[in-house]
Amino acid sequence: KRVVLAYSGGLDTSVILKWLQQTYNCEVVTFTADLGQGEELEPARRKAELAGVKPEHIFIDDLREEFVKDYVFPMMRANATYEGLYLLGTSIARPLIAKRQIEIAKMVGADAVSHGATGKGNDQVRFELGYYALAPDIKVIAPWREWDLTSRSRLIEFAEQNQIMVAKDKRGEAPFSTDANLLHTSSEGKVLEDPWEEVPDYVYSRTVNPEDAPDAPEYITVDFERGDGVALNGEACSPATLLTKLNELGRKHGIGRLDLVENRFVGMKSRGMYETPGGTIYHLAHRGIEQLTLDRGAAHLKDELAIRYAELVYNGFWFAPEREMLQAAIDYSQEKVSGTVRLKLYKGSVNVVGRKSPNSLYSEKVVTFEDDQGAYDQRDAEGFIKLNALRLRLLGRRDRL
Ligand code: ARG
Ligand code: SIN
Repeated sequence: KRVVLAYSGGLDTSVILKWLQQTYNCEVVTFTADLGQGEELEPARRKAELAGVKPEHIFIDDLREEFVKDYVFPMMRANATYEGLYLLGTSIARPLIAKRQIEIAKMVGADAVSHGATGKGNDQVRFELGYYALAPDIKVIAPWREWDLTSRSRLIEFAEQNQIMVAKDKRGEAPFSTDANLLHTSSEGKVLEDPWEEVPDYVYSRTVNPEDAPDAPEYITVDFERGDGVALNGEACSPATLLTKLNELGRKHGIGRLDLVENRFVGMKSRGMYETPGGTIYHLAHRGIEQLTLDRGAAHLKDELAIRYAELVYNGFWFAPEREMLQAAIDYSQEKVSGTVRLKLYKGSVNVVGRKSPNSLYSEKVVTFEDDQGAYDQRDAEGFIKLNALRLRLLGRRDRL
């Protein structure tokens, strides 16, 4: 019996690794994804080796380009935000981890997969819907739903009994729960559990405090082709490189902090803090280029679809036909979404200050307040308004006179 564990190298999954070996008496294969979390991954290899995992059963894969190109960008084409604000940084990474985990399971002939998400959250759902979609008969082991290590103190006790290193944060206590990748860092739990208490400074890790950001604004441009970012300040770059560079800019100017109480799929509310520096800039830039290039009907329908799309991603239905149907419609809408957006970054804010496109539907000649030389006949508006007013007038006569 063999099980592939989604292994971060952190405390929880290190405990799970040992617990799987002891409880199931099985061979554990570890899979660690580099999604741009900005952490050394070699320590994860060493820890896995120390726990007795065979070298050929330790998988560490750089998935950064695939993550941004095939997951983040398609989602950004939709302008998806969950409950109006959350840019879905954790949600969008789970299907890719699940997919690669299943590929590895097939490669090494494993019959089970395992993850470190708790039984209270969204991540368990996202991982497992991914597993079952891609390998319908796979066995799933979710230790948090099975074991008797029901509190963090018991978990730490188990770790100490099994020579597993327990990382401490700067304040000497076990760290709050975080998840990081190229798109965002999320923090939940501990000091954040009281939604009335402001997030303390030390929780932020990848943006400067906007109050300490540079006093001079910075202007940048992002080029789009068919709905995807392709260049920063005129310099072509790959999806992951673009997001990495936007992250540096966002960090410097304190952009993309979000304190949110959200509704988890399982039904409870949770409070989290997100830092999405590059993603916040990119999201706004994409909307900026759509302003010029999308027709109103297409744009407004897209806005409606974005809500459904975000919910599907949040709830873990990436590999579901309804998400793929929405994606096809959204991708179709992006055919002409090309051009350049100019943005201003300043003390925690990002604003679109200019946009241009060879596919622009904006007509200065039509919209101008100056002499339009016959481009638009203002008299046409009279009938347009009269017919739109017909119902309102009939109603007004009946109900208001
Ligand atoms: N609440 C966010 C979401 O559901 C973030 C979850 C973060 N996961 C974590 N292990 N801290 O997408
Ligand atoms: C977890 O429960 O493991 C993290 C939070 C979530 O998945 O919503």
